[in-house]
Amino acid sequence: MTTARFLLLALAVALPLAAQAQAQAQPPIVIKFSHVVAPDTPKGKGAQRFKELAEARTGGRVKVEVYPNSQLYKDKEEMEALQLGSVQMLAPSLAKFGPLGVKAFEVFDLPFLFKDTEAFRAITDGPLGAELFRQLEPKGIRGLAYWDNGFQIMSANRPLRQVADFKGLKMRIQSSKVLDAQMRALGAVPQVMAFSELYQALQSGLVDGTEGTPSNFYTQRIHEVQKHMTLSNHGHLAYAVIVNKKFWDSLPGDIRGPLEAALKEATDHTNAIANTENDTALRAIKASGRTRIHTLTPAESQAWKKALMPVHREMEARVGKATIAAAYRAAEFVVPK
Ligand code: LMR
Repeated sequence: MTTARFLLLALAVALPLAAQAQAQAQPPIVIKFSHVVAPDTPKGKGAQRFKELAEARTGGRVKVEVYPNSQLYKDKEEMEALQLGSVQMLAPSLAKFGPLGVKAFEVFDLPFLFKDTEAFRAITDGPLGAELFRQLEPKGIRGLAYWDNGFQIMSANRPLRQVADFKGLKMRIQSSKVLDAQMRALGAVPQVMAFSELYQALQSGLVDGTEGTPSNFYTQRIHEVQKHMTLSNHGHLAYAVIVNKKFWDSLPGDIRGPLEAALKEATDHTNAIANTENDTALRAIKASGRTRIHTLTPAESQAWKKALMPVHREMEARVGKATIAAAYRAAEFVVPK
């Protein structure tokens, strides 16, 4: 081998190794992923799955730090933190976008809008889901995926079967005007409160009841401080996985691509486990013997619907008539007579 050929060969081997060493020497890109629920929930597990996949797919060039249970921020603060770039990723519930000024998101809070999970997905996977994400862009936020939790149930220290049972009860809600109208339509007094304060508030009697999914109830030990739960399925809880737009856009393509693929897989995983996570949690709540679970009769359920349907009309001015109509079409919702 001539000296020139030897040198060329040596360079061909050394250069990629040097590039690899340089990449390894660089500190990893850190994605702080903050959320308000327990790790053992659909969202908690989704975040963990994203972390594992993202770190593996980027060969360690990205490190995802997951902060569950409002460790870093409470509901409202986490949105501000994302906009400021103090955290890079969140998965707030869809009810949390109204206070940000993107009121159309509150369409998801309309009572009894979804007959099943597929009806919900028809919205998020379709043009309305994409349009809602577009509305986040001027806020410096990019929407990447919708994650499911499931249908909401009601809890209190008295049985909630008839609409009249709600009279005067202080019910904790997320800060959504639709949820506010929903509780008022039932005769209750809505109280906006951060998720992390819920257990204490119920325990101390600051509020009388709440709505939520079984997985959130079980992991927050709501069954220890509420004597009754009603399987009303009147509402639906889901999330938008969002990132700081500036941060996301600044990522090199060979990092963003694998992250998007990791998120797609984590999304499929989360949406696949959500229902079973809630079923398991409900069984555990029942097994605890601390709470009585009520199933509404068809007539009782009908009475809830009758009381709550006016909320759809009442909220047209806030959520947008066209948005509600688009949601109805996608979810194949028929206004009950
Ligand atoms: C809530 O505040 O009730 C929910 O947003 C909690 C959650 O699942 O994120």
